[in-house]
Amino acid sequence: MSRSLRTDLSKDEAGADMWTGIPLFPDSASTMAGRVDALYFFLVAVSVFFSVLIAGLIVFYAVKYRRRSPDSVGASFHGGMALELTWTVIPFFITVVIFVWGASVFFAMSRPPDETLNIYVVGKQWMWKFQHLDGQREINELHVPVGRPVKLIMTSEDVIHDVFVPAFRVKADVLPGRYTHIWFQPTKPGRYHLFCAEYCGTRHSGMVGEVVVMDPSEYQTWLSGGAPEGSLASAGARLFQDLACNTCHRPDAQGRGPVLEGLFGKTVTLQSGETITVDEAYVRESILNPSAKVTAGFQPIMPTFQGLVTEEQLLELVEYVKSLKSLPQPQGPQPSSRVGVESPVPQPGSRAGVEMQTR
Ligand code: CUA
Repeated sequence: MSRSLRTDLSKDEAGADMWTGIPLFPDSASTMAGRVDALYFFLVAVSVFFSVLIAGLIVFYAVKYRRRSPDSVGASFHGGMALELTWTVIPFFITVVIFVWGASVFFAMSRPPDETLNIYVVGKQWMWKFQHLDGQREINELHVPVGRPVKLIMTSEDVIHDVFVPAFRVKADVLPGRYTHIWFQPTKPGRYHLFCAEYCGTRHSGMVGEVVVMDPSEYQTWLSGGAPEGSLASAGARLFQDLACNTCHRPDAQGRGPVLEGLFGKTVTLQSGETITVDEAYVRESILNPSAKVTAGFQPIMPTFQGLVTEEQLLELVEYVKSLKSLPQPQGPQPSSRVGVESPVPQPGSRAGVEMQTR
């Protein structure tokens, strides 16, 4: 499904990006790459400094205090408070620097910006499947625009995989039965390796692909190149009807199940009195294991859809629930949500949401 891209990106450009310099060191193609590299080089520099210092001192003292005559005996030595304090305090401060620095990079990597281009990822033995919100599907190839933060929402159909794009310095496990996220903001058009970095069976080493970073205009062209089945949310809407979910989850609050319009992102109270934020994982769990966390005021009557829907269909349903705006006017702009295909009331601001997602 590479479409027009192979001709758009000149071979020289892509090749140069991939292989200039030492091939052992990956390209730097995301906003995070510089920060990760700086920390990495700091760690290397600290290690080299102390390795050289310690090895040098060993050699120096071995020579200086060598046995000069066969019967010489070394003098015994006790105490040395200043020395003890020095080699305790200096490493302490160095490790605190590493900790604080590392934590700040870690938090920056784990917290995506508010407005991201969301793409769903399903790993399976042995391929990567990508689903764009507008409906495009890809296998082992992911097209993204340069300069925009991209969030991958990932799950696995079978075993643990791990998505790894060295040029972006991002890596995260992809787990069955759960959604994990990573985000990155590409800075350079080009093609970058995508690996599975968790041994997942015989053909683990073949579970590789490419991330294709394109100029925004080329990306638009690519996006418009085809999504015959419509957006992910519209596919979810059809599925919602086919599975008869709409008989209980009705927008008018007369159904036997909770109203789903405007629900995503809200906090709901459960029968147990606990509260939970409605996120992808909660929607997924509620479809597969409906009685696990029943909303207060409702009966645990919903059947499970375990085995009836695939991971990809689950993503469509999740995206459909996300797209459902509340029927009264929304409380404020919700830039990260999309207008629902079935949304009966056109929402102000929803246009912005669509632009944001597709541009
Ligand atoms: Cu999937 Cu290794």
